[in-house]
Amino acid sequence: MAAFLLLESSPVMLAPWHAFSGCVPESGKPAFEAAHGVDVWGYASGDPEHSELINEAMACDARLVVPAILEDCPSLFDGFQTVVDVGGGNGTTLGMLVKAYPWLKGTNFDLPHVASVAPKIDNVEHVGGDFFVNIPKADAAFVMWSLHDWGDEECINILRKCKEAIPKDGGKVIIVEAVIDEVEEHEFKDVRYVLDMVMMAHTSAGKERTQEDWTNILRESGFSRHTIYPIRAIQAVIVAWP
Ligand SMILES: C[S@@+](CC[C@H](N)C(=O)[O-])C[C@H]1O[C@@H](n2cnc3c(N)ncnc32)[C@H](O)[C@@H]1O
Repeated sequence: MAAFLLLESSPVMLAPWHAFSGCVPESGKPAFEAAHGVDVWGYASGDPEHSELINEAMACDARLVVPAILEDCPSLFDGFQTVVDVGGGNGTTLGMLVKAYPWLKGTNFDLPHVASVAPKIDNVEHVGGDFFVNIPKADAAFVMWSLHDWGDEECINILRKCKEAIPKDGGKVIIVEAVIDEVEEHEFKDVRYVLDMVMMAHTSAGKERTQEDWTNILRESGFSRHTIYPIRAIQAVIVAWP
């Protein structure tokens, strides 16, 4: 978890916590933008060292959550040959998935400045691009921690692009994100609320979402049905079908 702690305690990521007043209607600027003048991904694209720290921090989380996904949802990729990881960072998650399911070929899709420096991984191709424009085609699209960075409108746009990337018949979108439960007690309940505040500090309109929020977003994105699978992690697995 060292990279995660170094990222969250870095001056770049701490500055927005002192800039919440920038969010009030007077200037209308999200905290990260008020502190740095650009959004978090724009900042990372101009600072390779910070970008690497973000990717390593995300990889720390991947090493925790992927084993929980494999254990609690073992048949997630049954019948699929190809998967695209949407906003997959340096490919750590996809590398673990294709190792666990050796018949699977993966496309790790992220912004060009991330994909171009990602390390070589067997059975994974790194592709640079913009998930608001086009997502490479695959049997399944996998999206982990890439939706909570955005507001509802942007999430719906990303999910529509995910839907276009998979087959209409038999394809699925696998989302790995927190699901806030305001009623039930859970060992990760407070962590999910803290992450909601972290999203407020570090993104323009990102947030953690309740079950009802996910249902609304997925319906608006054009998915016919979805199922939420709790796993032993902060996140849940949400599978959505076109
Ligand atoms: C919070 S990270 C999640 C990384 C990875 N999915 C994980 O969980 O380890 C969000 C990722 O989305 C990528 N991203 C942001 N905007 C993007 C865009 N417009 N197109 C493609 N990727 C984008 C970032 O570069 C970053 O790697």
